[in-house]
Amino acid sequence: MTQHLSLLVMLMLQVKGIQGQTEHLYKTLGEDVILSCNVSFSTDKCSSVSWRHNRIANPATELVSGGQVKQGSAGASRLSLSRNCSLLIRNITAEDAGVYTCRHETQAKLKVFLNTLGITSSSPDNDGSVILQCSLSGYDDVLCQQSRMFWKNKRGIVLLGKGPEFDFRGQNNCVSILAVKHRSENNKRYSCILFKDNKVKNSIVYKPSFTDASGQTEHLHRRVGDDVLLPCRAKSSSSSCSDVNWVYSKDADATVELQVRRGKVDPSSAGASRLSVSGNCSLLIRNITDEDAGVYTCWFKDTDESDADVYLSILENLPGHNFIIIGGAVVKVVLMFLGLVAALVCMYRKRTQKILKKKKSHGG
Ligand SMILES: *[C@@H]1O[C@H](CO)[C@@H](O)[C@H](O)[C@H]1NC(C)=O
Ligand SMILES: *[C@@H]1O[C@H](CO)[C@@H](O)[C@H](O)[C@H]1NC(C)=O
Ligand SMILES: *[C@@H]1O[C@H](CO)[C@@H](O)[C@H](O)[C@H]1NC(C)=O
Ligand SMILES: *[C@@H]1O[C@H](CO)[C@@H](O)[C@H](O)[C@H]1NC(C)=O
Ligand SMILES: *[C@@H]1O[C@H](CO)[C@@H](O)[C@H](O)[C@H]1NC(C)=O
Repeated sequence: MTQHLSLLVMLMLQVKGIQGQTEHLYKTLGEDVILSCNVSFSTDKCSSVSWRHNRIANPATELVSGGQVKQGSAGASRLSLSRNCSLLIRNITAEDAGVYTCRHETQAKLKVFLNTLGITSSSPDNDGSVILQCSLSGYDDVLCQQSRMFWKNKRGIVLLGKGPEFDFRGQNNCVSILAVKHRSENNKRYSCILFKDNKVKNSIVYKPSFTDASGQTEHLHRRVGDDVLLPCRAKSSSSSCSDVNWVYSKDADATVELQVRRGKVDPSSAGASRLSVSGNCSLLIRNITDEDAGVYTCWFKDTDESDADVYLSILENLPGHNFIIIGGAVVKVVLMFLGLVAALVCMYRKRTQKILKKKKSHGG
């Protein structure tokens, strides 16, 4: 009986999922988001569209009605309606989280769940500790109970329990707390990762606002197809490159990929065939692509505190070269045009000369 009942409930939920048309978005505070109303273009009038925002703690608010953004509400200045009736919200805040419902006379209503993730940091206390709070906001707290927010350091290690540099204080409902030692000689990055339904839904990188004083950060700019040598400037308790480790992450992205482990290129890493470790522990990447842009971090023994970052930027391929090609083409066209004009002028002259000669011979 209970089995039948749960089957029925499951079926009902599935049907609801299909008919209700819901979408879940996981965004970062400060981002701009577009919530699609999914109006087909044949109806192309947004004048009958309304958008409503709802959060369990707040009463429903009408944000857009009759195709117009309602003025006066908090945050109305950040809202606009695009031509296809999508709602654009600029610079989202935690208060923007919740469920958005788009209504349109000819269309089934569409619900968009907007979930936000953000990191706040306390100012350093007397012993230089900073508390990082990673906060999730959504329609209700059920989202938080179903989600895990954990922290990684820039070496890609999940931070659990306590270490010399950190103290993971756990996740309390919608907030995950990490205390870190804030020292200017350590250019640390920490990432908060939101995990739900066995997937990473969002991640944010926290970078201390001070700039790196020790010169351990390097910025390189290269073009697609170049080879690049990334030097490892981490301080080491070892002098052997068989201890060197390299990881890679896209700048804004918190996922860290291991590329070199104890001096050896990880054969499963992306582009492994183009990677090698050179004699002085530098990472050599051959024939770089756009996807190689990002931050590379190296360190020696895992017990060493010191690590160093190299930021690799990929320059747009040869805008100067394009200019030369375009310039060359323009010169060619101009030359052809001048040639044509010269030819015409010649023909004209020959003709007029002939006519003149004829006239002369007639006259004479
Ligand atoms: C948008 O509408 C089409 C039908 O018009 C539907 O098939 C599709 O699933 C909808 N998309 C979303 C995100 O609801
Ligand atoms: C609606 O327009 C916005 C930009 O104005 C665009 O980003 C979005 O993809 C469009 N959505 C649909 C469903 O066409
Ligand atoms: C975004 O909003 C925050 C406050 O929530 C504000 O401090 C910041 O200046 C805004 N950024 C932009 C680009 O408007
Ligand atoms: C590391 O070795 C490469 C040759 O393998 C050399 O080109 C590069 O200058 C060296 N870098 C440093 C920092 O010594
Ligand atoms: C460099 O990579 C591109 C693809 O990204 C490939 O077409 C080209 O053959 C490679 N060049 C060399 C010298 O390996």
